[in-house]
Amino acid sequence: MDTRDEQRLREAAHMLSRSTRVAVLTGAGISAESGVPTFRGEGGFWRGRSAMELATPEAFRRDPEGVWEFYRFRIAGLEDVRPNDGHRALAELEGRCDRFWLITQNVDGLHRAAGSRNVIELHGTLASAQCQACSYRCPSDALPGQPVPICPTCGDRLRPAVVWFGESLPGQALAEAEEAIEDCELMLVVGTSGVVQPASSFARWARSRGARVVEVNLESTPISDVADVSLFGPAGVILPRLIEMTA
Ligand code: OAD
Repeated sequence: MDTRDEQRLREAAHMLSRSTRVAVLTGAGISAESGVPTFRGEGGFWRGRSAMELATPEAFRRDPEGVWEFYRFRIAGLEDVRPNDGHRALAELEGRCDRFWLITQNVDGLHRAAGSRNVIELHGTLASAQCQACSYRCPSDALPGQPVPICPTCGDRLRPAVVWFGESLPGQALAEAEEAIEDCELMLVVGTSGVVQPASSFARWARSRGARVVEVNLESTPISDVADVSLFGPAGVILPRLIEMTA
């Protein structure tokens, strides 16, 4: 780190240490160091198809077997994946705040595995599957064996309990995220490209409510324009340092 990086880190640590109500927004970048591929990076492809092309209701209608194959691959891939120092630093930060919300766009469950408690899963979770017609839900490790698993209650198709492109976000998660944005004194945005709505507008919204915004990313993003401080580098390195400096 050069002197300017150090100075930015100190500035961010100062802001964080003065904030007792903290909201964090994370994206795929926080799990990159755990080995989970990001969406828009080079790893965001599966058998030559973009992960984003497979994560749609249209893809599921057209090719449910293919979409389930992709998701079984992703679910199986998580078995060997563990939280990294970035996830753990955020879990530690929660213990120091009066109010803390961790809004994540990730579906990998790594924040909870690291010990974070108030996790708002905006895009759902790979840990469960749900019926596309009724309210049946089951853990992904107890899925019926068919290539396209069938709901034991109503006979319709089960699908991963994640939000796909073009779908609404779960109402409860969205309401909790809105409360966080309205109430936080500081929003820490980590490892998201900031191009997918509505998460991409959260930082701007928090800022308009008077919150400070600190960003951690490998590179500059649309969120950098609204951030008070952007810290460039791997989240697994920057976050532990940032949290340590606020102790
Ligand atoms: P993206 O793949 O769009 O962006 C990942 C971001 O993390 C990029 O800005 C990288 O520069 C950054 N990054 C990568 N490695 C990092 C590291 N070690 N430390 C810090 N930053 C790092 O992922 P998201 O922004 O999460 O939605 O994507 C948002 C949504 O788009 C996803 O939840 C998913 C996707 O399509 C749905 O599936 C609905």
